[in-house]
Amino acid sequence: MSRILTGIQSSGRPHLGNILGAIKPAIKLSEEPGNDSFLFIADLHSLTTIKDGALRREYIRAVASAWLAFGLDTTKNTFWRQSHVPEHTELAWYLNCFTPFPMLSNAHSFKDKSERLADVNAGLFTYPCLMAADILLYDANLVPVGKDQKQHVEMTRDMASAVNHQVGEEIFVLPESRIDERIMTIPGIDGQKMSKSYNNYIDIFVPANELYKVIKKIISDSTPLEEPKNPATDITFQLYALLADEAQVETMRQNYLNGGYGYGHAKKELYELIISQFAGPREKFNFYMENEEALERELRNGEEKARAVASVTMERVRRKLGFN
Ligand code: TRP
Repeated sequence: MSRILTGIQSSGRPHLGNILGAIKPAIKLSEEPGNDSFLFIADLHSLTTIKDGALRREYIRAVASAWLAFGLDTTKNTFWRQSHVPEHTELAWYLNCFTPFPMLSNAHSFKDKSERLADVNAGLFTYPCLMAADILLYDANLVPVGKDQKQHVEMTRDMASAVNHQVGEEIFVLPESRIDERIMTIPGIDGQKMSKSYNNYIDIFVPANELYKVIKKIISDSTPLEEPKNPATDITFQLYALLADEAQVETMRQNYLNGGYGYGHAKKELYELIISQFAGPREKFNFYMENEEALERELRNGEEKARAVASVTMERVRRKLGFN
């Protein structure tokens, strides 16, 4: 049995790129027999960049609601908020003290963020130690992450080895990252990678009229309606192809090639497809956003399950390091 663990960023409302690139594949993986998935909202990590409490609360609720809306089974898997299991911060401190300064200063992600962000705080610097704690607390074997996080998982292995070596026992499992190369980047409405920071995302949970407005903004060229169009280079077509079935994609492709079919038509079809395909998740998302108690119940249940595992690991670590 593989214990799969991954942390979910809560630095914004989940958009179509997050749904296709992260939420759906992770849920699919969690449904494979023999897999035991631990998925948590990395809300403590969000403090490295987001300081506003109300904003954080809103993002956490939206992220949790989105995962539940797409059918994450919380009876079979463990789903919780990092901040609600204090063992994460406790182990993070221990790991801080096993992490050489140069290892952190050489991290790609830190270098990149410290060049980009105005607020270069210590949390940003020791981010990998908290991430390592997240992983090691649960004896995770496999950590599915994006390419940019691969180095953090390698650092986790280094920290785990350092502690194991110090205490003379394998008290931590060394995790492996799993980078899914097949997952393509989802284009945003301007054709760049869909991302909150580029402000080019499609939020599928907004009311239908707002959704349509955003879809109408998808960039297209100025080929007149009557003329044939190139589906391969068009963003609306690319997004449609990610969601539609083969026959639908083929029909739209022919429409493009035949001419007499405008980008407005394609956008309307994309909009209608999103509305019909995501009717269920849209309804469930709204349910959880409006019923805080139902959402809390799910998360508290996950917290209890997570804590049961984390407290056992922490006891082991405390005993070995002379803290009991
Ligand atoms: N740093 C990860 C990201 O930016 C999120 C994360 C936090 C994470 N803790 C984790 C991922 C533990 C995997 C395992 O995407």
